[in-house]
Formats: sequence, structure tokens, C-alpha cells
Amino acid sequence: MDKVITAILIGAGNRGMDVYGNYALKYPDKLKFVAVAEPIQFRKEKFAHLHKIPLNRTFNSWEKILAEEKFADVAFVCTQDQLHIEPTLKALDKGYNVLLEKPMAHTLEGCIKIIKKVEETNRILGISHVLRYTKFFSTVKDVILKGKLGNVINISHRENVSWYHMAHSFVRGNWRNVELSSPMILQKCCHDLDLLYWMVGVKSKKISSFGGLKHFTLSNAPKDSPNFCVEGCSIEKTCLYYAPRIYIDIIPIIQILEKSNIRGLKILANLRKKHVRLLTTLSKLIKLLQRLRYWREWPVEPLYSGLPEEISEDYTDEAKMEILKTSPYGRCVYKCDNDVVDHQVVNIEFENSVTANLTMHGFSEREGRTLRIDGTKATLIGKFFDSGQKITLFDHFSGTKEVIFSEKLTIEGSAHGGGDVALIDAFLDILHKSKTQPLTNASETLESHLMAFAANESRLQAKVVDMENFRRLVEN
Ligand SMILES: NC(=O)c1ccc[n+]([C@@H]2O[C@H](COP(=O)([O-])OP(=O)(O)OC[C@H]3O[C@@H](n4cnc5c(N)ncnc54)[C@H](O)[C@@H]3O)[C@@H](O)[C@H]2O)c1
Repeated sequence: MDKVITAILIGAGNRGMDVYGNYALKYPDKLKFVAVAEPIQFRKEKFAHLHKIPLNRTFNSWEKILAEEKFADVAFVCTQDQLHIEPTLKALDKGYNVLLEKPMAHTLEGCIKIIKKVEETNRILGISHVLRYTKFFSTVKDVILKGKLGNVINISHRENVSWYHMAHSFVRGNWRNVELSSPMILQKCCHDLDLLYWMVGVKSKKISSFGGLKHFTLSNAPKDSPNFCVEGCSIEKTCLYYAPRIYIDIIPIIQILEKSNIRGLKILANLRKKHVRLLTTLSKLIKLLQRLRYWREWPVEPLYSGLPEEISEDYTDEAKMEILKTSPYGRCVYKCDNDVVDHQVVNIEFENSVTANLTMHGFSEREGRTLRIDGTKATLIGKFFDSGQKITLFDHFSGTKEVIFSEKLTIEGSAHGGGDVALIDAFLDILHKSKTQPLTNASETLESHLMAFAANESRLQAKVVDMENFRRLVEN
């Protein structure tokens, strides 16, 4: 049996705690966290408690944990977008292998520094482009490689960000503002650009892009609306984005469950939506129902980040209502300091003349990607939603169609369609078996980031970007 890989965690937030932390708790024979760096006391203590990390191995920042001697095989870097470069460079210098969250860096200079540091230190570094590891997208890749589509001619790919995810993350939340985070085409779509590059198999040649911020602007705020939803807004009963609907009534979660094709989940959705009093009573008898009644996971969890301990464990409606009076997540969506786009299209010509377009927007009824690949022999249509996934092949010669992949939503949710766990498995496997770099290594990741920055430049400067020139500029 392989030895347990030991790890340090930098940033015990949503990804660090819930994805990598939960993996280690579920598979203790594969991964063990031995130290954590996290400035938010509550998160640091919770992580240390769950993973039985001694006090002297808990730190308040990446600087402090990396000032110590190396004491594990790998560093998981799970800080926010603008805090990827320095911790990663330092961890590599210290001799850690690194699993780094996407985007690799919020600047191209940062990407290049990381690539160079990986080469210089000869360490293994993987980027968390989890979608390449899903069954869904590896099936698509396999279909292309086996020639089932003939020659691929065109790909049409959509990143349909749900209305609630847009409001939560890109209007009120962490990724709302370019200066504080990164452009949305990089932050949200480095996955999609990476998939397009991977599916086509060669680099991009030309890129153009359009888009902007159309809806979430002050000019769309209702007349006399307050800054916070709960301060008595005249349209609170009809506003899609009224904060208590999202964080107390958990309409996003209900809508995900309603759209699932599992009957039990639909029943639970109905119970939460229409019979809250009954659910409250039942949840006193059946502990499992407490999760649904007093929802604390996404999108609620970030509301509690950094709050004092006495309220950090209170998930009642009253406590949430109080928090929404001052939380960034309680703000009117038309009165935030957001400036990232809410819709963008990108056109790409690849070096082998394949054309592709990516549409990203924040107004979808459900969260997920859809794609259509047209080849000389067949057409592939894929639906990759939180609520279920399906790939259908349409053969041109026979005129037949075949569903080659289908998956339902599980009770535990999709976790990026299984990509989160598969990525960690693959990364640990590489650490055990060889010195080769993972599928989503730093150099491989650069292309998607170049495409994102080029799309941003094209959109802002209204020009077609020649990728050969763009790459040359970056290299110099
Ligand atoms: N792979 C994916 O599909 C995927 C999905 C979601 C988010 N992400 C990326 O993962 C990263 C983290 O996202 P998240 O949702 O977990 O964010 P988060 O805000 O929940 O977590 C980041 C954590 O870093 C901590 N932190 C801040 N300063 C620190 C410091 N100096 N030292 C150590 N820790 C520090 C914060 O307190 C916070 O707890 C982001 O870059 C995000 O873009 C990737």
C-alpha cells in the first residue's frame, strides 16, 4: 500500500476546508493534513480540530507557515485569486510539491513566475482545473481522440452561470471586482478555455471578444431602494435577488433539488419551500432534516466568514436576518461595488483552423455548461448541469442518436461532476508514482490563461488579438 501523503493547507475556506479537507477526512489512508495557515480564527480552529492538528502547527498566515522548515509532502494553496503567486513561489522554494487553486495567477507575469519556479525547483505542481478530470469531459475528450466525430470543425460552448451564483459570487461576493480579484473571463472561464484548448488539442491563433456589465448597475436600482435588502425595500416581494430569499429561504438550493431527476430530492425541495413549519417540527425528530431546515453550506457559509464565535454557529432564520443587515451578501445587487462583466462572448480560431465560441453569462435558470461539437462524421451535444449530466452523439451517416453518458444529481451534490475527488486522486497518484507533472500542470495551464487575458484585452480595446504576437509579448 502507498504511504499516506502529508499536506499543509494554506487557506481553510470553501475549497480548502470543504473540498481538500473533506477528502482527507474521507480517505485518511491517502491524505493527511498536518498543518494549517488561516487568518480567520474560527476556520483555523475548526480545520485543526477536524484534522487533529496540534496547536503549534496552526498559523495565521501563509508567510508564517512557510517561514518554518518543510514538514509535509505537499502544500495546498487555496487562498483567494490575488494571493496565489507569492505563497506558491515560497512553497516551491521550500521544497513542497503544490496543488494550486485556479486561476494559476491573476496576472500573466505571475503565471510565468510560477512556471519558471516549477522548472527551477523541479517540484510537482498541479492546478485545480477539475473539469478535465470529470467523467463527463474525459468522455468528450475520448470521443474526439477515437475519431468518432471525424474531424472536429466547430465547438460551441456555454458557461451558464445561474442567476443566484452570479449575484452571490460576482455581484455581492468575493469575485465582484477586478481590482480585488480577477476578470470574470479568467476567474470563471479559465476552466472553459482550458477545456476548449484541451478538446481541440492545439493552441489558439486569433481571439476576439465582446461583453460587459449590463444588468447589475446603479441605473437599474429601484427608485428609493435602500442599500441593504432588509432595510425595507419596496420590491422585496418580487425581487429575484432579495437577500433573505437566497440565504434564508434558500431558493437556489430548492431550485437545484427541484430540477433533479431524483424523486426524493424533489420531495425535499417541496417540503422546504412550501411546508417550512412542518419541516421545522420534523427536523426536531429526524436529525438529518436539520441540514435542510437550517442550511449552512453554500451559499450561506460565506456569510458567516469572520463573524464572532457566538454567532458563528447560529443558523436560525433570525440570526441570518440579523447578519444580512450588514453583510456584503445583504446588499442590494444594484448598489454594490461590482465591476466584473455579467455576460461575455469569446470567438477563437485555433492553429488547426477549428473555430470555437464561448458564451458566459450570469442569467441561467440553472448552473452548468452546455456544449455542441460538430465534426465531419457526427455531432456531440453535452449538458453538464448541477442537476444532472448527459452526452448524446448524433451520427450523420446512419442518422441515429446514442446517449453515451448520463448521470443524476446525488444527495451529496455534484462537487464539480466528480472532478474534485478525481483531481486529488490523480495528483496523489503522481506524487506516489513519478516525477512527471500532472495533466493540469503549470505550462499546460498557461494557454487557457493567455486566452482569458487576450479575450479581456479584445473586449476592452475592441480588437482581434493575434495570439502569436500576444505570446511573444508575454515571453519578453
Ligand atoms: N477549482 C475550482 O473549480 C474552484 C472553485 C471555487 C473556487 N476556486 C478558487 O479557489 C480559491 C479559494 O476560493 P474559496 O472559495 O475557497 O475562497 P475562500 O475565501 O472561502 O477561502 C480563502 C481562504 O484563504 C484565507 N486567507 C486569506 N489570507 C490568507 C493568508 N495570508 N494566509 C492564509 N490564508 C489566507 C481566507 O481567510 C479564506 O478562509 C480562489 O482562488 C477561487 O477562485 C476554485
